[in-house]
Amino acid sequence: MGLFRKKLKQEHKIMLQAERAGGALLPEYHRATAECPHPEHWHMYDSMTAEAEVLEFLRSLVTTLKPGLIVETGSFLGVSTLWMAEGLRSNGFGKIISCEFDPVIFTKAQERIASSDLRNFIELRNESSLEMQVSGSIDLLFSDSDVIIREAEVRRFLPQIRSTGLILLHDASSHLKTVRQAAISLESEGLLSCIFLPTPRGLVMGQKREGRV
Ligand SMILES: C[S@@+](CC[C@H](N)C(=O)[O-])C[C@H]1O[C@@H](n2cnc3c(N)ncnc32)[C@H](O)[C@@H]1O
Repeated sequence: MGLFRKKLKQEHKIMLQAERAGGALLPEYHRATAECPHPEHWHMYDSMTAEAEVLEFLRSLVTTLKPGLIVETGSFLGVSTLWMAEGLRSNGFGKIISCEFDPVIFTKAQERIASSDLRNFIELRNESSLEMQVSGSIDLLFSDSDVIIREAEVRRFLPQIRSTGLILLHDASSHLKTVRQAAISLESEGLLSCIFLPTPRGLVMGQKREGRV
């Protein structure tokens, strides 16, 4: 019988663990890096959801920048979506479109968002970031899906991002090299200006070079 048990997808395993933990905060346990030698000073709900301090930062960015349209790739359980939506509620306007392509995870996120009073600020879609069509200009892109497609996501949405907008790439630590390297490539091509925030999993803040006012 054990032989035929389907191996649980890593994301589903973390989703079940997160449900069991019931929203308890843990010390961040991603490994120390040269730029962030003490990850244990940060907190996390689970290893997929952004660090608790990064969630607070996202909400503050939303209240600081007053975006009309936020696009998020990789909703997972909708936690970062809800934190950004809290910022939108404080602003009193704006919308976040977030996509999750795994149907099981999408259903969980959808339940959570439907039961929240922030739901009117959120449009959750069960589709891939590489296929999602968004109309209008994007003020904030939070790229947090699969690390190997982050560069493609930025390239795909770049023409729609305002020159005053912000591009955030999560998981850009020197340990998780792929996203960091993507940001470095986009920067060396002259497409973005980036700063690398030394958080446990790494967060790049980028802005388009083209059209700077
Ligand atoms: C790191 S988690 C997102 C965490 C979430 N942003 C948060 O902080 O609460 C990444 C999610 O992206 C999803 N994903 C992977 N590839 C995707 C794609 N091409 N389009 C949309 N979602 C994708 C995964 O299923 C996973 O749930």
